[in-house]
Amino acid sequence: MNLIINYSLKILRLLPPEASSDLSLITNKLFFLIFNYFIKNNYLQKTKNKNISLLNLNFPNRIGLGAGLDKKGKYVESLGNLGFGFIEVGTFTPLPQKGNEHPRIKRLKSKNSLINRLGFNNPGIDIGLKNLEKNRKKFNGIVGISIGKNKNTSLESAHLDYVYCLQKAYLAADYIALNISSPNTDGLRELFRENYFDSLIGNINYEASKLQKDLNKFTPLFLKISPDENEERIEEIIECSLRNNISGFIVSNTSLGQFKNIEGGISGELLKAKSIRMLQIVNKINARRGLVISSGGISTKEDLEQRRALGADLFQIYTSFVYEGPKIIDDLLHWS
Ligand SMILES: Cc1cc2nc3c(=O)[nH]c(=O)nc-3n(C[C@H](O)[C@H](O)[C@H](O)COP(=O)(O)O)c2cc1C
Repeated sequence: MNLIINYSLKILRLLPPEASSDLSLITNKLFFLIFNYFIKNNYLQKTKNKNISLLNLNFPNRIGLGAGLDKKGKYVESLGNLGFGFIEVGTFTPLPQKGNEHPRIKRLKSKNSLINRLGFNNPGIDIGLKNLEKNRKKFNGIVGISIGKNKNTSLESAHLDYVYCLQKAYLAADYIALNISSPNTDGLRELFRENYFDSLIGNINYEASKLQKDLNKFTPLFLKISPDENEERIEEIIECSLRNNISGFIVSNTSLGQFKNIEGGISGELLKAKSIRMLQIVNKINARRGLVISSGGISTKEDLEQRRALGADLFQIYTSFVYEGPKIIDDLLHWS
């Protein structure tokens, strides 16, 4: 089986990155639909004795898939059955978006990294949630929903997009990730500045408290942090978030950079040092008050150990999964 997967990955790598990613998701889903019974047993076996309860959520294991691979909410069951304990879908925006012009993903193979400038291409939260409803039933893990703002929404009105998505996703999500850290939507990271951030988080907290009461359900909110932020500001961001009932932090998103004539978000090994630095900063300030998910260049046993020592409760992968395929999940599960 591993041989087949290795050859398939080699063939898929001959295609442009986005086409290759789409084809892998479809093939994996077909495979899942055909061999559902066997794969399901496999999942239970892989995740045996690895479950952990955090914030009253039962994670089958600590290894998750980062946002942005399942941008449509169509592949949770098939991806989940490869062994992930949790999957973050989206990022969804209120209205559908095509994203930036192609080409918008480049492989930096020799550095085990990617650079992307996708720009929140997604079907919009309504369709995203419909897809998710159909495609999560056979997944026993945790489903996070990442939300963002539409490209054409001004920063002054950004809170309306987040509140809209929050209302839509609150019941369906096990947790909601607030994404204001993507480098690929113009000006989005400005939302971390004090003049926007405090009122944005205040508005979100107000709405979330209302939803919790009205729907009689608590859905934790996690803030995804940029690795390019300075330490002083991060301290204020964390304190303000915790005051406003944010339950945890995803550390970190991609780092803004330039490579092969593309400006965009760098992920994978080239992100590792920045992501670790940010985890250290967050850990110092957060001091275990909020849950921490580490994301950025994770692929080895040492990565897991180092991030755990720096306060990470859970891990997310993306780029190492793109390059190494399902085997990386087995390896990380073995070490975690
Ligand atoms: C092609 C691509 C698309 C991504 N899209 C999103 C997204 O829509 N929302 C988000 O929060 N993060 C997105 N990310 C960031 C990943 O979720 C992850 O945080 C980041 O890539 C670092 O992890 P890695 O080094 O394991 O890839 C994307 C990353 C890549 C490579």
